[in-house]
Amino acid sequence: MSNSCEKAYITTPIYYVNDIAHIGHAYTTIIADTLARYSRLSGLETFFLTGTDEHGQKIEEAAKKRGESTQAYADKISATFKDLWDDFDISYDKFIRTTDEDHMKGVQKAFSTMHKNGDIYKDTYKGHYCISCETFFPSIQLVDDEFCPECGKSTTIVEEESYFFKLSAYEDKLLKWYDENPDCILPRSKRNEVIRFVEGGLQDLSITRTSFDWGVKLPADMNDPKHVMYVWLDALMNYVTALGYGTDDANMDFWPARVQLIGKDILRFHAIYWPAFLMSLGLPLPKHIAAHGWWTRDGEKMSKSKGNVVNPKEVADAYGLDNFRYFMLREVPFGGDGDFSQKALIDRINSDLGNDLGNLLNRVIGMSGKYFDGKVDSSQVAKYYQAELDEVHASLNKLEPLLFEMQIHRYLEELWRPLTVANKAIDMYQPWTLMKEGKEEEAMALNGLIAAILAKVSVMLYPVMPEVCTKISNALHFSIDNENWTKLAKGTELLAPFTLEKIDPLFPRIEEPLLTQIEPEDKVSKEDEPKIEKKKDLKEIEGIAYIGIDQFFQTSLKVGTVVQAEEVPKSKKLLLLQVDVGEDEPRQVVAGIKEWYSADDMLNTQVCVVANLKPAKLMGLVSQGMLLAAKDENGLCMIRPEKPKTAGTPIG
Ligand code: MSP
Repeated sequence: MSNSCEKAYITTPIYYVNDIAHIGHAYTTIIADTLARYSRLSGLETFFLTGTDEHGQKIEEAAKKRGESTQAYADKISATFKDLWDDFDISYDKFIRTTDEDHMKGVQKAFSTMHKNGDIYKDTYKGHYCISCETFFPSIQLVDDEFCPECGKSTTIVEEESYFFKLSAYEDKLLKWYDENPDCILPRSKRNEVIRFVEGGLQDLSITRTSFDWGVKLPADMNDPKHVMYVWLDALMNYVTALGYGTDDANMDFWPARVQLIGKDILRFHAIYWPAFLMSLGLPLPKHIAAHGWWTRDGEKMSKSKGNVVNPKEVADAYGLDNFRYFMLREVPFGGDGDFSQKALIDRINSDLGNDLGNLLNRVIGMSGKYFDGKVDSSQVAKYYQAELDEVHASLNKLEPLLFEMQIHRYLEELWRPLTVANKAIDMYQPWTLMKEGKEEEAMALNGLIAAILAKVSVMLYPVMPEVCTKISNALHFSIDNENWTKLAKGTELLAPFTLEKIDPLFPRIEEPLLTQIEPEDKVSKEDEPKIEKKKDLKEIEGIAYIGIDQFFQTSLKVGTVVQAEEVPKSKKLLLLQVDVGEDEPRQVVAGIKEWYSADDMLNTQVCVVANLKPAKLMGLVSQGMLLAAKDENGLCMIRPEKPKTAGTPIG
């Protein structure tokens, strides 16, 4: 997708008010927020819309069940969505409600226009209606002649007078649109599904109901007061009524939308009905409709009855909003389904965020403080580290298309490459060695390189993690704005000299799940219980002393890179190693491995280090860690990561 349009309109679906928000809703909104923030940062005039979908039989019934008036009920639930997004600092420009007066006027205007254009006629509808999906289904699509093919719930037979939209007349035009715009539906695999569906033939769509009245009335000139609009016609129109369609047209120059985000379950409405309605109204079609996958909980669909719904606020409060945002966007390829587990979230925080990103900032703070009175100066970076800069800029240049092709997980993956370049540069050039050798300018340049990489990464990470990146930019004395997006992230400029102050660690390590209440119920069935008990007894007989997972996590195990290795004079057994475990300086480790490994064997290899052992002295040398190794009658071998890992990566 090109960056040529000057305006960017980003939308989320509008959420039904029959339930409160869960992580599925938060996911859609967070992706849209990320795109909107990126658009603004890149200098586009941006309009970001979200809101609530409040009409229809489903909402009417939900209110009735609670003994509340439908409007009061809709007000209450709509406010919970708005409050949540405010709490999450979602940068929406408008929060629309389908009960807003202007919206309803716009929908009526659309109905009149479609009618005038000859696309609406009156007939009798006879068929099956699923209230839960607010959708009509022809009998051939039903499961066992009764049940909804989408949600499995029982459908109701409806026979009533109805207005119809001539959807069948748009079959060829829709197919032409899909054909001429290969990225109109993302991911592309989803576009193929839609094409197959349309090629199967489209039936005209019933767009009014007479059996209930919680909806938008037909325009007065239709003179047919017993009809209300079909909820999907009403709801889809929000994307243009929010811009003033049918009232003052105030923001209609934002149309067509740059990206309309939806979940895969509502693709048909957005990829077939919506463009057909727009064609009938003579409005341009959106640039991209992007359908994401479904979040499950420990492999199961979330539902209140199963008690496994993940509350996004609880997760964000416990783990940090930005960490939660990063996790959701990084964990799952866009379009694929994702499974929420605290373990996966903790791994991402400790590893990608703590170890790769946070630790890098700690290293700059450490280096600057120790060697340069806190000063960071990038002026000599190009003289010593041009190759590293080139690698970083090559990665940054790949980013923008990935974001707007909805490859957000790949965007983040690519954004992590500069961090690897930075971590590797520290291991390779070793500021502590440069300082020992008196190469102060080179060490300062290395420090400047790392700070510049952090700055560039935080500009591009800002749309995903706004709060954390603002903290980084404050520490590094620059601001995240369009000017620095142009200079630092798109361009090759570095940071102006500054003095760095210490800040609190951004990602304190999380040792164990922080939310016990959202852990799934014990899933062991009654029949299984005795078997499990029995196994435990057997193990106890075999004399195994069990420890809990919390005890295991008391040991801090980390990947280390041996950056220096030498023999300990006069010792047959000991090697003296300097091991980089992702801290300001390497740890000194005295290891009893000389019988099996020479100093050369160990140099530049990776090892597993117990990093929180009390320092000990061996032959007068302080050892600040222990290496994992396995020894049998054939000798000793080191335990190493199977593939190279960044120094300091936690093991567990
Ligand atoms: N009101 C309609 C949308 C009308 S848009 C003109 C609707 N509302 S919804 O509240 O049911 O769903 C809103 C969005 O949340 C959809 O994009 C849906 O895919 C998403 N999610 C709801 N549950 C979800 C998961 N478990 N996982 C991921 N997203 C899911 O549909």
